[in-house]
Amino acid sequence: MSKPTTPAENPQLKDIVAHAKEYGFVFQSSEIYDGLAAVYDYGPNGVELKNNLKRLWWEAMTQLHGNVVGIDAAIFMEPRTWEASGHVAGFNDPLIDNLDSKKRYRADVLIEEKAAEYEKAGDPARGAALTAELGRLLTANDLAGVKQLIIDEKITDPLSGSSKWTDVRQFNLMFSTQGSAVDSDAPPVYLRPETAQGIFVNFLNVQKSARMKIPFGIAQIGKAFRNEIVARQFIFRMREFEQMEMQFFVRPGTEGEWYETWKAARRRFHEALGLPAEKLRFHDHDKLAHYAKAAVDIEFEFPFGFKEIEGIHSRSDFDLTQHQNLSRKKQQYFDNDIDESTGKPYGNYVPYVVETSVGADRLFLATICQAFQEETITEGEGEAQTTKQRTFLKLHPAVAPIKAAIFPLVRKDGMPEKAQQIFDDLRFDFRLVIEDKDAIGKRYTRQDLIGTPFCIVVDGQTLEDDTVTVRHRDTREQTRMPISALRAYISEAVSFRRVFEKL
Ligand code: GAP
Repeated sequence: MSKPTTPAENPQLKDIVAHAKEYGFVFQSSEIYDGLAAVYDYGPNGVELKNNLKRLWWEAMTQLHGNVVGIDAAIFMEPRTWEASGHVAGFNDPLIDNLDSKKRYRADVLIEEKAAEYEKAGDPARGAALTAELGRLLTANDLAGVKQLIIDEKITDPLSGSSKWTDVRQFNLMFSTQGSAVDSDAPPVYLRPETAQGIFVNFLNVQKSARMKIPFGIAQIGKAFRNEIVARQFIFRMREFEQMEMQFFVRPGTEGEWYETWKAARRRFHEALGLPAEKLRFHDHDKLAHYAKAAVDIEFEFPFGFKEIEGIHSRSDFDLTQHQNLSRKKQQYFDNDIDESTGKPYGNYVPYVVETSVGADRLFLATICQAFQEETITEGEGEAQTTKQRTFLKLHPAVAPIKAAIFPLVRKDGMPEKAQQIFDDLRFDFRLVIEDKDAIGKRYTRQDLIGTPFCIVVDGQTLEDDTVTVRHRDTREQTRMPISALRAYISEAVSFRRVFEKL
């Protein structure tokens, strides 16, 4: 069986991890203390890129849809929330330890990797049968059966090759902390493992205060925490991460249509952001989460294979009914639209929910993996011709951390002052930098490495006719234009509208 792929072992991911650190996108958390496993910090360029992705998602949900509004709920919630949601009893991963290596694994992941091996070896039917059997055993909570499957498939420890396994047992992924400073017997307070419950418990507050009519959605971006057993592949699987979730409340019986609508809409979002269609696919769940009636993942082809970036779940009335039962507060909506089959209003019901849930960090990772480009370029002509390697981030201009860099060609003759004037004028509209150190080629390279779409060069001619050259990151072509045209030119390229028009 293949070894687990870690950043150190996947050459392409290794380059991206190194690039992300060197150019201020992502750092290991508490690195000076050798880091905390599966926790990461975003640097100056990373936070800009991530904020742009989050803002795009937020506006695509709340600004483009008249019937989707946002909230920002607290991370801590009354502990019964997690009993009602099923997370206390059911938010588990099946774990298994190897007695020789003392390493801990997710039993389901070991089996899924074996299934992927069959698929790679040209026997997809055997892989699919194995995945289906795993789904059946997990749904039946047959942990002995899962262990037997590991033995029957001769799955060994990826590190030591040992087949000495413990029994499989369930491990709850929620982090908890002391909720009360005075009552040590008070139940623990959990760090939310999904943002969705903050939406469910506020369903009626939002519906009433914003006078929403079904169908309508509530969107939220926020941190979630999971004590992942196996955390690897950089920011793909973290213990602290960010989710962008939207619960769409619908009339029972219409959830199938809405599920299909949101499935298609969410895929379009990723394509509009520049993730190529051939690197995206749907994957229906074999094993449904405890709350789901139907579920599909949108997967992206990372350097380590196709993996989930977003889940679309048809959650029925599960969550609202659970909260209604435990809180003893009605979670119903009165629908005064007329049901044509009876001629009467639909009346009171607990709405059904279709959820879209995308990880901000996974979208960030997909974006940076897709943007990371290495190419050989030829410069000069004839005998002076040279070739060199160029690395650049081909980010969609709408999400690039810096929209334009302004370079005075030399640090004299009034060029720095002119560059400063352009900066001062455009900084109200865009995030910019001024760079005056090193040769112009080096300055282009530095901006390419962080994905800046435009470099504006102030030269001798600028001082005569108020024109500048604009150098384009992807083509390296240069265009001469009046300074007065810059704002409109950059605005057009970096505008969210260009993404939204494709949705
Ligand atoms: N409310 C539904 C829910 O939480 P999920 O499929 O468990 O569903 C949704 O998670 C998304 O959250 C995933 O598609 C992924 O993008 C992100 N996510 C989940 N666990 C993660 C982790 N440990 N690290 C980073 N992102 C994670």
